Amino acid sequence: MAEKSEFSVSRRGVIMGSAATAMAAHAPAEAQGGRTTMPADPGLMPLTLKVNGQSRALSLDPRTTLLDALREHLHLTGTKKGCDHGQCGACTVIVNDQRINSCLSLALQHDGDAITTIEGLGTPEAMHPMQAAFVRHDGYQCGYCTPGQICSAVAVLDEIKRGIPSHVQADITARPQATNAEMRERMSGNICRCGAYSNIADAMAEVAGVEA
Ligand code: FES
Ligand code: FES
Repeated sequence: MAEKSEFSVSRRGVIMGSAATAMAAHAPAEAQGGRTTMPADPGLMPLTLKVNGQSRALSLDPRTTLLDALREHLHLTGTKKGCDHGQCGACTVIVNDQRINSCLSLALQHDGDAITTIEGLGTPEAMHPMQAAFVRHDGYQCGYCTPGQICSAVAVLDEIKRGIPSHVQADITARPQATNAEMRERMSGNICRCGAYSNIADAMAEVAGVEA
């Protein structure tokens, strides 16, 4: 039997460690410098998230992920839980203009942050251009990955516009372009089990105003 490395880290361990760090950051200033020990039951912690332009005050167990805060506490179920392990991208939301996997982040770490979910991008009556392009190009089948794909796609075009480089650029110092290869590389963290990738790429190309 293989010996367990003393450096092996479990996901639960990482989450618990992050929760402790987030709690420490929220502890009263006088407690942070002293020898205050972590209570056995951490109880609920107050935080405020700015979700889709609205300030939402919450009181959560510090181990609550941002994904669960959105889905279970704010009832914004557009954001999907696929793997809950940072592997599929279904839970992608935009936080302070950056896309993240909300299943890998604790809600408490986002106190005061501006969060955009699929519900905040557009509505069926007034769709975001990326949502409309996904519809036109059939960028989905079952639709489960779609909210994450769309949030990611919107953030990807914004990243390219802001000149943030990626691994597929031949010259990392050159301004990135919204090429098919570039967009596919940047979308590689969003998995679609239905395989709608080429239609998603077409939708993104249309919004970017480039050849598919
Ligand atoms: Fe977050 Fe899969 S649910 S990456
Ligand atoms: Fe079904 Fe992507 S549309 S998983």
